[in-house]
Amino acid sequence: MSSTDAEMNWVEEAWQFAAAKVIRLNASIGDNFVHVSHEGSYDRTRSHAWTAGFWPGLLWLVYRDTLNETLRVTAERCEQKLDAGIDDFVNLHHDVGFIWMPSSVANYKLTGNPLSKIRALKVASWLAGRFNVRGKFIRAWNEGSGIGSRSNAGWAIIDCTMNLSLLLWASLVTGDPRYRHIAVEHANTVLRHFVREDGSCCHIVAFNPETGERIEALGGQGYAPDSAWSRGSAWALYGLALLYRYTRDEAYLQGSRRIAEFFLAHLPEDNVAPWDFSFPDKERAHKDSSAAAIAASGLLLLSELEKEEAAGKRYGVNARRILKSLCEHYAVWGDKDEAILLHGTGNFPANKNIDAGLIYGDYFFVEALAKLRGQKETFW
Ligand code: GLY
Repeated sequence: MSSTDAEMNWVEEAWQFAAAKVIRLNASIGDNFVHVSHEGSYDRTRSHAWTAGFWPGLLWLVYRDTLNETLRVTAERCEQKLDAGIDDFVNLHHDVGFIWMPSSVANYKLTGNPLSKIRALKVASWLAGRFNVRGKFIRAWNEGSGIGSRSNAGWAIIDCTMNLSLLLWASLVTGDPRYRHIAVEHANTVLRHFVREDGSCCHIVAFNPETGERIEALGGQGYAPDSAWSRGSAWALYGLALLYRYTRDEAYLQGSRRIAEFFLAHLPEDNVAPWDFSFPDKERAHKDSSAAAIAASGLLLLSELEKEEAAGKRYGVNARRILKSLCEHYAVWGDKDEAILLHGTGNFPANKNIDAGLIYGDYFFVEALAKLRGQKETFW
């Protein structure tokens, strides 16, 4: 067997196991929203949670390949339930991209459902409305839902880089450039204030919401203001690659590359990132399999977009290494756990969801496997 055949075998095998597991999970999870798997079972969460789009997203990923109608029906039911968040409106936050891209945009791209398009445009308009004109950033959270008791009116976070493609998609489908203008301004703020010279990123930057002046970086879900939270790096790597795909502005390609180089240079032997690359206590340096899966999917996009052949190839090879390690040491193919990937770290500083299965880890892992099988279209 050639090495290419051997590689296709593990990818194909992993995909088939994952698809079969999602079909089984459809019977137990149904149209509920899930976030964290503890002791073998996924919890049930509210439709407002930033993670609510990933279960329907997983269903759409497997539907796209299998055309299994029961998956489509459940994904559509989840999407209808997400309307509660749009109706409630005031409790929506910047993570509407995470929620409505793998649900409504996925549905629209796969089936042309006109209601899905309208839902996604409504939340894109909400996201655009969070733009702070003075500071040129999209506000992350609402009052009372940040960290501690400080006002967060001037806070932007690195995760938002991944929400920006909702705005870029909205400009494409409406022909109105304003959504794109806002995405580009926020992305420029990310390059200027979040991505450091060495390619590491901070989680939160606090700006003065009146003047737009930068006040300080905050540690947030990372270990410290100057540390390197691995999932934040993965969001920025992937998000900036998407910015480049939509705009073809070289600055985003360079930003994504810089982050990729930092991420890859700091990987441990098994190619799966710890939750923060700078955390000094190696005993408690838990892995974050979700950061690994997100980065791998982002690296596969970067490898496709990269103009320098050798670099593009290297990103692809490294993405495969990460995914193979996840397959061999982190994935549960049977039903011992509802999660597909174990050993994710949700929020170490808040002591939440440590060494757990995380639905976004599962989503990006399966998305990346689909890319390795040749799937070019993404929901982002
Ligand atoms: N809020 C996104 C994350 O925890 O990665």
